[in-house]
Amino acid sequence: MQIHDKHFKPFITAPQIQERVSELGKQISQDYAGKNPMFIVILNGAIVFASDLFRSVSVPCTLETMSAKSYGSQTTSSGTVTVGAHIPNVHGRHVILVEDIVDTGLTLQRVTEVLQQQHPESITIAALLSKPAMHKTKLHLPYICFDIPPAFVVGYGLDYAEHGRNLPDIYVLDEEHTL
Ligand code: IMP
Repeated sequence: MQIHDKHFKPFITAPQIQERVSELGKQISQDYAGKNPMFIVILNGAIVFASDLFRSVSVPCTLETMSAKSYGSQTTSSGTVTVGAHIPNVHGRHVILVEDIVDTGLTLQRVTEVLQQQHPESITIAALLSKPAMHKTKLHLPYICFDIPPAFVVGYGLDYAEHGRNLPDIYVLDEEHTL
């Protein structure tokens, strides 16, 4: 499979994703019973994951969005995080940040810092993927669908230069076929 100049190979299939996302939804529903959590989707990459996760949660909950961007170039983290102007009111709420992938973790660290200023009751993170070998922060990550090696991936919301987000499966960069 090719996007722009790069080749990708199959990595995690849509049924595997659905199974894990629904397990995570059940776990969150148990942990947040009676807490009316607020899900905050980090745009744009987490949209696809969040729409499946949110529908697999069975407790009363609300949905908000925030934008944050850390990718300066196309396949490596820039280290500079820009948080969008719209900040949901999280005062006194149990917040669950929904992210597509934790790479360095700097995006989530920055978003958490910004939200803490409003004194939420709690903040936690639910992410589709995590690359533990790349982490530069000490985030607590109780809700991760898949830990993966430090390779570049696309699909199920994740992009390469804004393309590939619509793919139902997740693909990994095929180094052998990419110059
Ligand atoms: P972090 O701040 O380094 O954790 O970067 C997180 C953001 O980088 C994610 O929300 C993604 O938008 C992007 N990102 C990190 N790794 C990948 C990848 O393998 N594919 C696509 N986007 C990625």
